[in-house]
Amino acid sequence: MSNFLKEFDAIKGFLAHEEGILLYEMAKQYCTKSFAVEIGSYCGKSACYIGQACKENGTYLVTIDHHRGSEEQQFGAEYFDPEEYDYKNNRVDTLPTLTKNIAKYKLNSHIKAIVDNSKSASKKINSEIDFLFIDGSHTFESARNDYESWKNKIRTGGILSIHDIYDSELEGGQAPKEIYEKAMTEGFKLVKRVNSLVALKKIT
Ligand SMILES: C[S@@+](CC[C@H](N)C(=O)[O-])C[C@H]1O[C@@H](n2cnc3c(N)ncnc32)[C@H](O)[C@@H]1O
Repeated sequence: MSNFLKEFDAIKGFLAHEEGILLYEMAKQYCTKSFAVEIGSYCGKSACYIGQACKENGTYLVTIDHHRGSEEQQFGAEYFDPEEYDYKNNRVDTLPTLTKNIAKYKLNSHIKAIVDNSKSASKKINSEIDFLFIDGSHTFESARNDYESWKNKIRTGGILSIHDIYDSELEGGQAPKEIYEKAMTEGFKLVKRVNSLVALKKIT
């Protein structure tokens, strides 16, 4: 396993190191034929774990984000970060930090950053994918859109990974859990869970 993985834990983001390791392991094992897609790049933490596996496999990750932040990252909200705010244009902008991190870890040839919203990007990517990671907005509407827009693109035998699965409302929002449970009734089977991250395999 690459020494880079330990360094990725220092990247600003919303992912525990052990969850990053699971993304790396799943991408390493399953992202071997085509490419991976991530919804919700933010500053690139999860993207680097997946991108490193793609680099080792000779494949690549397409990471998609409008870079305007989720609801909880807006000015004054709970996860607002003044370093990721464009004060001239009064909006969140995480693209500069993402770009910097991809370059810092020499992953430019294996991570393609797309600035777009998930639904619109899904209409432009029509080939089968090996690995999908959903970590965008956690409203019910967004989580449902992400799942419905992308689920049929995953190849049989490929992986769907979802972050922020909480067993109760007291622990966190229930939208990711709703799409996780739906996937389990639609041909996906749990391979492994670490903290709030699940990896499901598409069986049919
Ligand atoms: C929780 S953060 C992602 C964290 C990241 N995966 C990490 O490792 O730190 C969610 C990201 O999703 C993006 N986002 C929210 N809704 C989106 C949408 N509909 N399309 C694309 N990106 C979206 C936000 O801009 C934000 O950067």
